[in-house]
Amino acid sequence: MLRPPLPPESTALKATHTAASSVAHAPATAAVRVRRAELSDLDDLVALEDATFDSDRMSRAQYRRHLDSDSASVLVASANHRRFLGTAVVFYRKGSRVARLYSLASRPEARGKGVGSALLATVEQAARQRGCRELRLEVRLDNASAIRLYERLGYRRLGRLERFYEDGADAWRYGKRLD
Ligand SMILES: CC(C)(COP(=O)(O)OP(=O)(O)OC[C@H]1O[C@@H](n2cnc3c(N)ncnc32)[C@H](O)[C@@H]1OP(=O)(O)O)[C@@H](O)C(=O)NCCC(=O)NCCS
Repeated sequence: MLRPPLPPESTALKATHTAASSVAHAPATAAVRVRRAELSDLDDLVALEDATFDSDRMSRAQYRRHLDSDSASVLVASANHRRFLGTAVVFYRKGSRVARLYSLASRPEARGKGVGSALLATVEQAARQRGCRELRLEVRLDNASAIRLYERLGYRRLGRLERFYEDGADAWRYGKRLD
């Protein structure tokens, strides 16, 4: 991922003024559905973006462009039809069989319930359908929960990117072959 997430306390603080309360009591077993994002998701996408990342945030206009773009997919996880739980953004390059996961985020209240895993599985499926052979991503060295998730789902560490983030932090690059 390109952007460093906010520390957890800031994430929680910011999330209180989003529409997050509706998922606060969602049962851990609630079925997660992943679909392509629509224009009507823009408010939720921008609110989660602002609550989760502290730099290189995607603006509403950028999200709107990506919704219509051939070189990007914006996916949304939801429960009970309308409850917005998280999102993943993946980029493709013409002529390249490597897809890049740019962003993965679930709402703080929805974490640890399989939302991130469901989004990632759908990203992989979508990339495969576009003929991609590999999915790559970057993650901050201290983002233990994301690293655990990626490694559990079969991602392998490819290398370290020095000063990858705006604040000077390094990133691990991970990749997974999509067979
Ligand atoms: C990283 C992130 C996307 C993970 O999302 P998530 O929705 O919590 O992911 P999951 O629930 O699928 O997996 C997280 C954990 O919950 C567990 N889990 C999965 N399904 C579960 C379920 N149904 N019930 C309970 N726990 C479950 C997983 O085993 C996993 O445990 P682990 O941490 O030991 O690997 C989320 O923490 C996030 O948005 N972080 C802030 C942004 C960020 O850092 N993004 C990535 C880098 S930019």
